[in-house]
Amino acid sequence: MRESYVILEKIKADPYSATLEELTVLLKENDEEFNEYLFQTADEVRREYVGDEVHIRALIEFSNYCRRDCKYCGLRRSNRKLRRYRMKPEEIVQRARMAAEMGARTIVLQSGEDLTFTAETIADMIKEMKKFDVAVTLSLGERDYREYKLWKDSGADRYLMRHETANPELYRKLHPDSRFEERLKCLKILRELGYEVGAGSIVGLPGQTAWDMAMDLIFTRDMDCDMVGIGPFIPHPDTPLAHEKPGDFIMCLKMVALTRILIPDSNIPATTAMGTIKPGGREITLQCGANVIMPNLTPTPYRALYQLYPGKICVFESDVRCLPCVKMMIERLNRKVGTTYGNRVKKKAA
Ligand code: SAM
Ligand code: SF4
Ligand code: FES
Repeated sequence: MRESYVILEKIKADPYSATLEELTVLLKENDEEFNEYLFQTADEVRREYVGDEVHIRALIEFSNYCRRDCKYCGLRRSNRKLRRYRMKPEEIVQRARMAAEMGARTIVLQSGEDLTFTAETIADMIKEMKKFDVAVTLSLGERDYREYKLWKDSGADRYLMRHETANPELYRKLHPDSRFEERLKCLKILRELGYEVGAGSIVGLPGQTAWDMAMDLIFTRDMDCDMVGIGPFIPHPDTPLAHEKPGDFIMCLKMVALTRILIPDSNIPATTAMGTIKPGGREITLQCGANVIMPNLTPTPYRALYQLYPGKICVFESDVRCLPCVKMMIERLNRKVGTTYGNRVKKKAA
């Protein structure tokens, strides 16, 4: 236990000194007092580097069609039970306009890997959305250089593509039709094109060890990710992983806290999955290092069909409720609603 405190002080002073062995020790530490100290330290680092603002990113999940077959995901193409939908481009842009009018400064467009939306269709939507004075984040999975470039040239600001797990062997087992190297290549292209880039991992994947999670921390640190999305694995009944154990909430919080300490000025969301495995989970995450929240702006009836995992929060809420709801959440926590685009502001270590 003493060793854990010593490691934490060391990596806080010099994040690039953290080794896989040291991070594994911290992840395995189950002393409650230490874990509380870790959360408090991450909260202090968050305040020092990114302040009290919480940035709101309005999420529009515009298609649940997917060409991929990731074993954990309810949208995987082999899930024949899921009713599929695609929103129309006009409907998506209209929704983004509404979000902007409600005060959102970032719109996140997310979907399965749905090639029916051509690069040009997406580019046209980006151009329309940029008229609303918002930052545009895309989370559309793996595409090629030309497509990523066209979207950047059309005004897209950021791209979210979790690396899921930095252990290539585990990655291979969970992704029958995609390769870790390919994911990595996409992330590098996105960075090269000037996007703010977000990666991140799932915590508690079947077969994942503390060492693997330490690899995730080192991966996002060494990539110097602008954004890092972390959430628990939640088993979906219509996938091959239906009977596996879900990820542990405390372990996820530790991953968030350590990410904040390793990349102090990054943008880290309190993810929807954190609120799904524990009531109030997003509020707790915002107090352990996170500074971003992503209210769901997907219209009904579609939002209930974007079923990555069961029990997703907000699915039965009125479809305009989440944005005001997260504003109230931020105020209840004595934090401030971000008023800017909320880009990453790079800061040197103090
Ligand atoms: N298709 C794009 C992609 O994969 O990058 C974007 C959408 S995908 C649904 C967004 C994220 O959902 C994935 O990166 C994955 O981490 C997460 N996800 C999918 N199924 C999940 C599950 N059962 N439990 C937790 N997270 C899950
Ligand atoms: Fe498709 Fe993304 Fe789900 Fe994989 S995680 S099946 S790419 S929606
Ligand atoms: Fe959806 Fe609170 S964020 S109802």
